[in-house]
Amino acid sequence: MKMVRCRICGETYLGSEIPSHCPFCGAHRDHLISAEEYPADINDVQLTEVERADLETSIELERSNTRFYLGMAQHKSEHVLSSTYKRLGKVEAEHCELFCELAGVDEPEDLSVPMEVSDDWCANIAESVEREKRAASLYHQFAARATNERIREVFSAVSAVEADHIELDGVTADYAGCEHA
Ligand SMILES: [Fe+2]
Ligand SMILES: [Fe+2]
Repeated sequence: MKMVRCRICGETYLGSEIPSHCPFCGAHRDHLISAEEYPADINDVQLTEVERADLETSIELERSNTRFYLGMAQHKSEHVLSSTYKRLGKVEAEHCELFCELAGVDEPEDLSVPMEVSDDWCANIAESVEREKRAASLYHQFAARATNERIREVFSAVSAVEADHIELDGVTADYAGCEHA
């Protein structure tokens, strides 16, 4: 068995192989390190005004995306899709918690409250693509202007995760038989 810890979300994973992505936050394998290497003070950061504002924007964005996916997950009629989006909701909640920790604020109280969403899988998947594109591009921008190394590391890792979610939406859109835009 191997034990690794994710430098991005801080969660520990135990398995026979190191996974390609963190199972909790989706960070790519290069962010998975041995548990002994994980610095205890990794999230003790001094934020600039810009970094603080960018984290606040990100908390709000992840809160909304988490609740949107939990809303999609409530459709009981289609198990594969609902369980996929339930998983995605958990990943976005992990991002929200990480941003809250970096900003030194409490998690939003309604983070696990599902949003009312459409009954139409294809409409929801199309909205997911828009949400993921916005997140990937915002975090890319936030990473570029961050002066703190830790903040830059987190935003660039999470931007890559959101880009992976755009690809995932392509897979679920095919599964649901949606016409591609
Ligand atoms: Fe992680
Ligand atoms: Fe995402």
